[in-house]
Amino acid sequence: MTISKQQITQYQDAGFLVLEGFAEAEECDRLRARAEELVQEFDPAEVVSIFSTREQNRLTDDYFLTSGDKIRFFFEENAFNPDGSLKCEKEKSINKIGHALHDLDPVFDRFSRSEKVKDLAQAIGLEKPLLAQSMYIFKQPNIGGEVTCHQDSTFLYTEPIDIAGLWFALEDATRENGCLWAIPGGHRRGLKSRWLRTQDGRMAFETYDAEPWPEDELVPLEVSKGSLILLHGLVPHRSFENRSARSRHAYTLHLIGAKAKYPADNWLQRSTPFRSF
Ligand code: FE2
Repeated sequence: MTISKQQITQYQDAGFLVLEGFAEAEECDRLRARAEELVQEFDPAEVVSIFSTREQNRLTDDYFLTSGDKIRFFFEENAFNPDGSLKCEKEKSINKIGHALHDLDPVFDRFSRSEKVKDLAQAIGLEKPLLAQSMYIFKQPNIGGEVTCHQDSTFLYTEPIDIAGLWFALEDATRENGCLWAIPGGHRRGLKSRWLRTQDGRMAFETYDAEPWPEDELVPLEVSKGSLILLHGLVPHRSFENRSARSRHAYTLHLIGAKAKYPADNWLQRSTPFRSF
């Protein structure tokens, strides 16, 4: 798998790029099977954390904030009954697994550090890329929640901004099951906000531009299983709820340039340094 100069230009112009057929079907299936195993081994009683895209709910969520160097499980917001019990089985209730699958799990480690991922990182000009964060996203049938429009650099900030998101479709992603949408060229409009740790150890947004996103400019990125969507750290993107009967599994990996400064007030902090390929 090589990426052409034209594709790199396309990525720089739009802030995103779709690479169809980046991963083999077997690679996708291996990651899916491994995620399934991890969920099997996981006891939901350990956790009462509900992952919510409405940031308010996250603010005091220590389980989330200390997950940067762990493999942890986050539930869909709608997964629970009022009494706190799960509405359906855990396999159908998990929103995502994060955030160090790429370091701690051998199957995800191997895929994330494969030659083709390494070559790609180099091709798009990341300076000595480090693997910062990984997520396995389930986007469950019927209850898969929306992710509102955002820039990844709001949550994973470096100075200068030197970050790329790799979004691997492990299943076909369509409008019906909640594919990604992005604003072409939106990465040139600057960073709107940062989500950072404050002096008192809480999380808060620091806003630089309160103008709402021009969401009428969003375009759907419908892709087939095995596709990779590359996302610039500043490109605005989102996904809608999955109200269909089909899941929309994806694996995401975020790379940052080793020469960029990684601030101590980013939410994601680790006991061990980020590693490269
Ligand atoms: Fe994102």
